[in-house]
Amino acid sequence: MLILLIGSGGREHALAWQLRKNPETRLVSAPGSPALATLGDIRPVAVDDLEGLKALALEIKPDLVVIGPELPLVLGLADILRAEGIPVFGPSKEAAKLEGSKVFAKDFMIRHNLPTAGYAVFYEQEDARDYLKKVSYPIVLKADGLAAGKGVIICGNQTTALNGLASLAATEAGKKIIVEDFLAGEEVSFFGITDGKNVLPLPSAQDHKAIYDGDRGPNTGGMGAYAPAPLMTPALQQTVMRDIMMPAVQGMAVEGHPFCGLLYAGLMVSLSGAKLLEFNARFGDPETQALMPLIESDLSEIFMAAATGVLEGKCLKLSSNSSVCVVLSAEGYPGPYRRNDPITGIEAASARPDTVVFEAGVGRVNGTSLTNGGRVLGVTATGTNIKDALEKTYLACGDIHFKGAHYRRDIGAKAFRLAHRS
Ligand code: AMP
Ligand code: GLY
Repeated sequence: MLILLIGSGGREHALAWQLRKNPETRLVSAPGSPALATLGDIRPVAVDDLEGLKALALEIKPDLVVIGPELPLVLGLADILRAEGIPVFGPSKEAAKLEGSKVFAKDFMIRHNLPTAGYAVFYEQEDARDYLKKVSYPIVLKADGLAAGKGVIICGNQTTALNGLASLAATEAGKKIIVEDFLAGEEVSFFGITDGKNVLPLPSAQDHKAIYDGDRGPNTGGMGAYAPAPLMTPALQQTVMRDIMMPAVQGMAVEGHPFCGLLYAGLMVSLSGAKLLEFNARFGDPETQALMPLIESDLSEIFMAAATGVLEGKCLKLSSNSSVCVVLSAEGYPGPYRRNDPITGIEAASARPDTVVFEAGVGRVNGTSLTNGGRVLGVTATGTNIKDALEKTYLACGDIHFKGAHYRRDIGAKAFRLAHRS
């Protein structure tokens, strides 16, 4: 099977690594990365160059296109390719609104009775300001559109909220603003592969969004993840499938926009159950880096079944191991960060047992690896339990060096805290 994979980050490296486990699968990535070039061909077409990607697909005639990031989904790449008769793993423009418009997503959740926080939508900054003077705190402000992780502000008091409102409203994504009730609990990322009718759940993962240990400092794209999350017990998984994933997929189908691809539910879990924080229309990053080593089925076959509407009856064979991914980031990230620092130790780390180093922001010049992104590497290892996986991952992190390298030392610590509580 020839697969065209859209994207260039750590998530796509992990997907490609898993897809290529089937020796029959050939891969072309666009725009790809040096790591992706070791797993197939790469073609320098940007993820938002819809015409360029269509031309590439018509040229290479893939059996399947897998779309990694949200931007091309929200722009409608899947529709363009499907119109050419090419099977695509990834939702249509209308279905990707579940991620692309938080107002659409919240209204959809209410229409279909999905558990979520109460909220109000504002189209005028003035109205939102009046409202923020009356509500009780904490509350959460959200910009409607895609904001690369910068569209949500948790506000403990009115001053933070009014300042936050002004900054969100000044952005393109913040033309509409949601003011949402604050939910306390533990976050977990729930992933379902769907063909628009059936849903195959993947192991749940916990991300670590803040840059520093103890969840301190500004939020990032994600500094590490582990899977499976003990928080997601088999009973809770069943409830989430019954009360969130299945009604969401059925709801999109009933509304005439079946969701085909990866549906990611960001959940807040508390004693009163799981509530939806958000939907995403694609795999999480870095959760995917932790998940891929746990999949024992041929993922290309599962993606193809989802893309062609025949997922019913398919099973995913999963390893009973645990997996951990620790992200190494560049100095300065998530603000302006250093680039072009030589990286050593990737080979040594990768040679360790059960360890794989996924590359997110790495350039290669004359055989030397250089930092080329805020999140640089996702060092990942599996073990018989989370403790074992953590030990292996952190040993491998110790092999890798570049100037200003930063990583959290407490990835996975939550798993033990939560396990003790239950
Ligand atoms: P979102 O993009 O909606 O997932 O929001 C980004 C992050 O903000 C989430 O991962 C949570 O950590 C936090 N967050 C979002 N909504 C809420 C909420 N209603 N209550 C508490 N935290 C939230
Ligand atoms: N890791 C969070 C996300 O991919 O949105």
